Amino acid sequence: MGYVKYEQKDLIGIVTIDREKALNALNDAVLADLEAVIDAIDTNKTRCVIITGAGQKSFVAGADIAAMSTMTKAQGWAFSKHGNDVFRKIEKFPIPIIAAVNGFALGGGCELSLSCDIRIASENALFAQPEAGLGITPGFGGTQRLARTIGAGKAKEMIYTCSKVKAEEALRIGLVNAVYPADQLMDECIKLAGKIARNAPIAVRQCKKAINMGLQMDIDSGVALEADLFSLCPGTKDQRNAMTAFCEKRKPDPFINE
Ligand code: CAA
Repeated sequence: MGYVKYEQKDLIGIVTIDREKALNALNDAVLADLEAVIDAIDTNKTRCVIITGAGQKSFVAGADIAAMSTMTKAQGWAFSKHGNDVFRKIEKFPIPIIAAVNGFALGGGCELSLSCDIRIASENALFAQPEAGLGITPGFGGTQRLARTIGAGKAKEMIYTCSKVKAEEALRIGLVNAVYPADQLMDECIKLAGKIARNAPIAVRQCKKAINMGLQMDIDSGVALEADLFSLCPGTKDQRNAMTAFCEKRKPDPFINE
């Protein structure tokens, strides 16, 4: 795909938004390529995905401002829906996705990272939702996921003031899970993805579903969902392998996704 590259490293898929000249800004073509790359991932061979941006400077510097500058209301609606559909697909992707935030994560870039399960940032990462300063609202899920991730008060402050949040501050407010020097970011993300990939894939998938769907439910519905998803695991080869190994005081065989 022109604007999005994919690399398979054993059980880990690495997706790179590759429009470095525009700091990986998202227009309809980039969004379409991103969706096509996500759709093509073989989830039987892949247990964790990492999304990052090309170059040293930017994860994604937002939605494409030049493309939006002359938009009509109808075009604005269609563009927001396009971004939201792709990001929702990322959020609902059956296996975990880590955002390796390697620089600017502004507007649509911050929103892309929020649609991922886990955000890991480089020391030079910078987060913001600058939309109100551009005469628009966040349009790729920022008004929804930022508040769900860092709480309504902090999200409202970020969105109303358009303030920039550096990596250390992002760590403090729970926007990212960890911060590393830029030259260590990908290695650390691959290590984290590897730890996820070593666990039983059917179980990990149900965990993702249970957490994401449960966050939208009342607690009674959430624990009922958990029981349903839990019940999909007993009897799988991976569950039998892991628990038999525990009982026999030995390590399990590698998991096989069955
Ligand atoms: N859209 C389009 N082009 C962008 C862009 C964006 N969001 N961000 C950067 N670029 C382009 C610049 O226009 C420039 O292109 P040219 O070389 O052709 O002039 C190139 O990328 C490099 O950018 P700068 O020269 O500006 O680099 P810098 O280091 O001086 O500044 C920056 C970097 C602070 C990120 C600055 O580019 C900037 O402020 N970008 C805009 C960030 C922003 O406001 N993002 C939110 C967009 S709105 C949104 O995302 C809405 C939504 O939710 C749907």
